[in-house]
Amino acid sequence: MFGLIETWRALEAKGVMGINRRNADYVLMYNERSLYPLVDDKILTKQRAIEAGILVPEMYGIIETEKDIEKLQDIVKDHQDFVIKPAQGAGGDGILVIAGRFEGHYKTVSGKILTHEEIEHHISNILTGLYSLGGHRDRALIEYRVKPDPIFKSISYEGVPDIRIIVLMGYPLMAMLRLPTRQSGGKANLHQGAIGVGVDLATGITLGGTWHNKKITKHPDTNNAVNGIRLPSWGGFMRLAADAYHLCNLGYIGVDMVLDQNKGPLILELNARPGLNIQIANNCGLLPRARAVERHLETLREKGIQETVEERVRFSQEHFGHVTSHD
Ligand SMILES: Nc1ncnc2c1ncn2[C@@H]1O[C@H](COP(=O)(O)OP(=O)(O)O)[C@@H](O)[C@H]1O
Ligand SMILES: [Mg+2]
Repeated sequence: MFGLIETWRALEAKGVMGINRRNADYVLMYNERSLYPLVDDKILTKQRAIEAGILVPEMYGIIETEKDIEKLQDIVKDHQDFVIKPAQGAGGDGILVIAGRFEGHYKTVSGKILTHEEIEHHISNILTGLYSLGGHRDRALIEYRVKPDPIFKSISYEGVPDIRIIVLMGYPLMAMLRLPTRQSGGKANLHQGAIGVGVDLATGITLGGTWHNKKITKHPDTNNAVNGIRLPSWGGFMRLAADAYHLCNLGYIGVDMVLDQNKGPLILELNARPGLNIQIANNCGLLPRARAVERHLETLREKGIQETVEERVRFSQEHFGHVTSHD
């Protein structure tokens, strides 16, 4: 294992995209600011996805005011398990995953027992903006708890792994599977302590991993190898990611998805400023891929062609796929 600076330096030859370039040439260039509110609010994203027929975890209810908090009991009365999250949260902060009930109390995914009052208090914190970007007043979203596909059992610790795909103008550039660890409390966000594992775009087979900006090959809690696993429904994830472009009209996004054991691939959220660690997980830079898509779009423009979701997925798989973790 070596540190972040060494890891980054080793990637420079592979066209690593740094934060300044990401902001100037991709986020600012391709993402119209006026469209941000849609992706910065998970309730708005979900409503738009539902209208567009794109699969998302079912929304059970929204709590907007202190007065609304009393509605919680009614919202969750038919559901043993559910998730509460700040609509404008990020990085997994403020997300409460309730996995079941225990003698009138609630049980989190890590087994912690919470009283109804504690949950109400948590929601009140969400409303005051404790977890929201910029500390503004926020809304709480209550939704279906995703049941992870059994394939993840050996390589994740509690909670739900998610799949992040970076998409440029509807073309998937790079993918990463994020696995919760004991430290990340059931959430798949890297800054909570989850692991990121690169995924081959063509096959959905996992490559090597990164944890706290270092390269790793095994899950720290289960000790099982994280590479060489073929993710089910891979084509479905690629199409969902490519399609998400039409949902928000933002040209450069990170699409976060999950694999539910009954419902298959679902979109969790969209990010207008996706992180750069995906490059460490894939041992590969984003720039050469982004430029290849830009050249391709230029050629298509000259010919007056616009590609479909299937064509875009095929382009990405042909050009960026079939890599191994040893290159
Ligand atoms: N409905 C859900 N069911 C189970 N786990 C969830 C659910 N929503 C979120 N999570 C967990 O929390 C993580 C972060 O959720 P996400 O909606 O992407 O919010 P954030 O913007 O904070 O990253 C996910 O990667 C997943 O591990
Ligand atoms: Mg997320």
